[in-house]
This record gives sequence, structure tokens and C-alpha cells, in this order.
Amino acid sequence: MKITVIGTGYVGLVTGACLAEVGNDVLCLDLDKAKIDKLHEGVLPIYEPGLDEVVARNVAAGRLHFTTDIDRSVAHGTVQFIAVGTPPDEDGSADLQYVVAAARNIGQRMTDYKVVVDKSTVPVGTAEKVKAAIADELAKRGLSLDFSVVSNPEFLKEGAAVEDFMRPDRIVIGAEDDQAIHTMRALYHPFQRNHDRTLVMDIRSAELTKYAANAMLATRISFMNELANLAEVLGADIELVRRGIGSDPRIGYSFLYSGCGYGGSCFPKDVKALQKTGEENGVPLRVLAAVEEANDAQKQRLIDKVVSRFGNDLSGRRFALWGLAFKPGTDDMREAPSLTLIDGLLARGATVCGFDPVANHEAHRVLGERIDYAENPLDALDGADALLIVTEWKQFRAPDFDRIKQSLKTPLIIDGRNLYEPAAMRALGLEYDAIGRK
Ligand SMILES: NC(=O)c1ccc[n+]([C@@H]2O[C@H](COP(=O)([O-])OP(=O)(O)OC[C@H]3O[C@@H](n4cnc5c(N)ncnc54)[C@H](O)[C@@H]3O)[C@@H](O)[C@H]2O)c1
Repeated sequence: MKITVIGTGYVGLVTGACLAEVGNDVLCLDLDKAKIDKLHEGVLPIYEPGLDEVVARNVAAGRLHFTTDIDRSVAHGTVQFIAVGTPPDEDGSADLQYVVAAARNIGQRMTDYKVVVDKSTVPVGTAEKVKAAIADELAKRGLSLDFSVVSNPEFLKEGAAVEDFMRPDRIVIGAEDDQAIHTMRALYHPFQRNHDRTLVMDIRSAELTKYAANAMLATRISFMNELANLAEVLGADIELVRRGIGSDPRIGYSFLYSGCGYGGSCFPKDVKALQKTGEENGVPLRVLAAVEEANDAQKQRLIDKVVSRFGNDLSGRRFALWGLAFKPGTDDMREAPSLTLIDGLLARGATVCGFDPVANHEAHRVLGERIDYAENPLDALDGADALLIVTEWKQFRAPDFDRIKQSLKTPLIIDGRNLYEPAAMRALGLEYDAIGRK
């Protein structure tokens, strides 16, 4: 199939590369010339495990192309995926300007039938707006061409995006007409050889499904974080509580970890946008208001721990910070809890040396020279008063604890991701303060 993917970011590039991998002829469009230039040079604009190989293989095979030329991109694909950003507007609602601009671009240029697929996370009713924008542009041209609009939300996780796309646990398709449903089923058939995981539904339900999924996941995190805070005061251990409740199949173990708050490009904005949708429709989503409030507070937990240990004036103090990306497996710094912590430390006069296995470069783009950057985790410790852990990269799980103890001025680890056993840390002579641990 000939496919165009509009927006070559975390979702668009993975979608385009994986669709090419199964044999489709894919053209990825982005308005960011620097991004497309990099891709033409064989350099990926983002870090995503395994993606570089898939991109290189399919570029070499002539199935994956990149462009900034909108005429070419509209002409190319019978299927046009919209995978542009939907950042929060000032009032928390999803800003649809990029989605609507992409739709208008299609309406201004199309000359034959297109299936236009909303892959961006968009509020209920967006497919109708996309349809109206295309119809409006066609009317201006005096044309009445057939087209379908489909909602096909993306559930991939950054850090495992290629794997998630190649082996999806579900493919949600919101569509109204048989031709579009047939096209989408054919497109996704190669990704579900084992058994069909397609859920075909009406467009509004598909749009709501994506927000419901992210809101539920964010709710589990905030719930566990608040319980961890309570456990800490009560002298209980949240790790034991987690196992105690995760064993109930109605609850399950996944996504039950407490920590220093969720970040990233999706949960914060999607929780806000869904609340806004509720508000606009006279249905207040009180649970989500609490989820957001709890998360904002949780992002302050590490700074609170630092202050209670060293006092509010941190001038002359230096902290090593392990993990800058919002989660392991990505270089994405959007809404990362590390940023809240860094702001809090710098505002109190401290200096910070950060280390991240892949996000140092992106962190430097965001933070510039506000902090120092180390080339490896142990170098970050030199001259530091304590080690603060913000992202649970695998390489932090079993570090050289003796070296940590020797390097730090105070043998203290404040762990926002509960990576270690408190008793083992005590036995090593390290002070260890985690989230909700005894
Ligand atoms: N990142 C994730 O893990 C994830 C997962 C599922 C869903 N989503 C959703 O997917 C969408 C995209 O997210 P992302 O993280 O890939 O964003 P991103 O910011 O990484 O990429 C978006 C890209 O779209 C480009 N763009 C904007 N307007 C354009 C236009 N008119 N034509 C062509 N290109 C245009 C931008 O230059 C940018 O490169 C969002 O709605 C997001 O909520 C993201």
C-alpha cells in the first residue's frame, strides 16, 4: 500500500518505519526541515531502541522516504496518517491546530480517494473537525471527492515503541464506512498473524478509548504514590503492599510502582485534556483532578526529602542526579520529573551534575548550562553531597555501591524509583531514602 505519515516524531517515525518493514511504500512528511535533513543523512532525530535499524533497512530497500514537500506527500499515500503533536492549549484542552492544518493540506491538494487516519491523540469530535476541514477545502476548489476519516489511536510506549507497533496488544479502529474498515484491516493484518486483535468501533468511542487508557494508567500511578506517602508515615513498606495487592488478579502487578511522579509527552497532557472534555460537557471528572494534583505534589517529593535532610538553603551543596529522561528507554524530556527536581535544587542555591544514558544531549538542549553533565554515572558523584535517582534505567540497578559511598560527601542515596532494598543499603553503610519504603 502507498502510505503517507504526516509528522515524523516519536509516533510518526515509528509508524512509518514499521509499516515499511512489512512491505508498504511509505513517505514520511515533516515541516521541520532539520528533522528531515537529519533523516536523509541517516541520523535519527530521536532515541528509540531498535528504530535505527528498521529505518536504515527500509530506506535501503527503497520503501521508506522522507520529505518536507506537502504536494508530494498528499499525492503519495492512499492512506494519510496524521501523527502530528497535540500539545495542551492554555486551558488544558488539546491544541488541534496541527491536526487541522494537516487535514487542510490534504483537502487543498487531493485528487483521488483518501483514507485520512487520525493517529494523534485527539479529543472526541476531532474526526468530525478533520472531515469538515477537508470538505471545506474541497468545496473551495469546487470539487466533491470521496474520502474517509478514521480514528486509529496509538498505544505504543516510548522505549518499547518498535516492539509495541510490531506486536500490538490491540488495534483500535474507529470508522464509519466499509471501505475504510477494509483498508485498515488490510494494513494491520501483517502485525497480527497470531490472532486478530482489531477492535472496530464507532469513531467517538475510539477517540475516547485512548484518553481512557492513559487516564487509567495515570490513576494507578497517583494512587500508588499517595499510598506510598502514607506508608512512609505509618512505618509500612509500599513494596510489600504492592505485592500484596498485585497478586489479586482484579488488580494485577503492572503499573503499580510508586515513585517521584509521572511525566512525558502523554499522561500529563492527556489527563488535562480529558478533564477539559468532561468540563465542557458538564461531566466533572473528579478522580482525574485528584490524579493530577497528586502527581504535581509527587514531583516535589525528592526536593522535600533533600530539604528535610540538608535544610532549605542548599548553597554550596552539589547533587548527583541519575536519570534525566522522563522514563527509561527514551531521550524524551517532556514534563520529566527531573526538571522539577533540578528547578527546586537550583532555586535553593545547589549545583547539579546529571547523567542519563541517552538523554544528556536532549537535556542539554532543554537546560543548557544550568547543570553539569557527566559522561558516566560514577563521574557524576565526584564532590556531590548525595545521589538522587530519578529514572529507573537498568544500568542503575546494580551499581558499584562501594564507589558510591567513597565518592559522596554524605553516603546518602535518595531514590525516587525504589531501585534498592533498604536493608541491603544499610548493610553496606549507605543511608537510603526511597518512596514509601521502611
Ligand atoms: N510519544 C508517545 O509516546 C505517544 C504515544 C501515543 C500517542 N501519542 C500521540 O501522538 C501524537 C504525536 O506525538 P509525538 O510524541 O510523536 O509528537 P512529536 O512532537 O515527537 O512529533 C510531532 C511532529 O509533527 C510535526 N508536525 C507538526 N505539524 C505538522 C504538519 N502540519 N505537517 C507535517 N508535520 C507536522 C512536528 O514538526 C513534529 O516533528 C500526539 O498526539 C501524542 O499525544 C504519542
